[in-house]
Amino acid sequence: MRTIRRRRVADALGAAVAVVALALAGCGSDGGSGGVRPPADFVAVASDFECLQNWPRVRNIRLTNRGGFLDEALALAQNHQPGKQYPVGTIIQIFPGEAMVKRAPGYDPANNDWEYFELNVSASGTEIRKRGRDDVINMFGAQCFGCHEAAREFDFICEGDHGCIELPVTGAQIALLQDSDPRCAD
Ligand code: HEC
Repeated sequence: MRTIRRRRVADALGAAVAVVALALAGCGSDGGSGGVRPPADFVAVASDFECLQNWPRVRNIRLTNRGGFLDEALALAQNHQPGKQYPVGTIIQIFPGEAMVKRAPGYDPANNDWEYFELNVSASGTEIRKRGRDDVINMFGAQCFGCHEAAREFDFICEGDHGCIELPVTGAQIALLQDSDPRCAD
């Protein structure tokens, strides 16, 4: 009797272990073989910002992508259809001291997941002064989001003709500011 009962217990345990092992193996193969890339977030640090002349220029914009999607970002910059969004990890600037960074879906849905930045730039590099949305203001004292939300249809990218209040600078002045970015080597 005793032996039989022990054997039954052992069998039951063995079956339970096998079920757990199968479940774990199932998890492993699901996670590894899906082929669908999870939407990785991109949390910029100061060293992600650099001499703007290192990045390709499209009209007044300088841009890069820290997640390997520069081609996609450039294609969108060259031909921005309404409703299209920049890939996660895109950094866009026109002035050395201000930036927009595309975060993962869900970071700030009301703002298409952009994070706005005020930056201090000097020959020794970049410091992040402020980041986020509502508290981030531009060099003329106005809130980034307050202007850029007018371009909601174009992923909050104003450019010259997406409905934002204009900046009091010309294209030539923007180019001059990029050309005199203090982080660029001579
Ligand atoms: C007064 C409205 C206004 C405010 C405030 C403002 N922007 Fe803009 N921003 C614009 C306009 C208009 C352009 C397009 C300029 C151009 O190319 O002629 C622009 C361009 C940009 C671009 C290039 C991509 C694009 O949208 O065209 C970035 C990046 C940017 N702004 C970031 C910021 C950040 C960061 C702040 C806050 C620190 C800010 N902006 C505040 C109006 C504004």
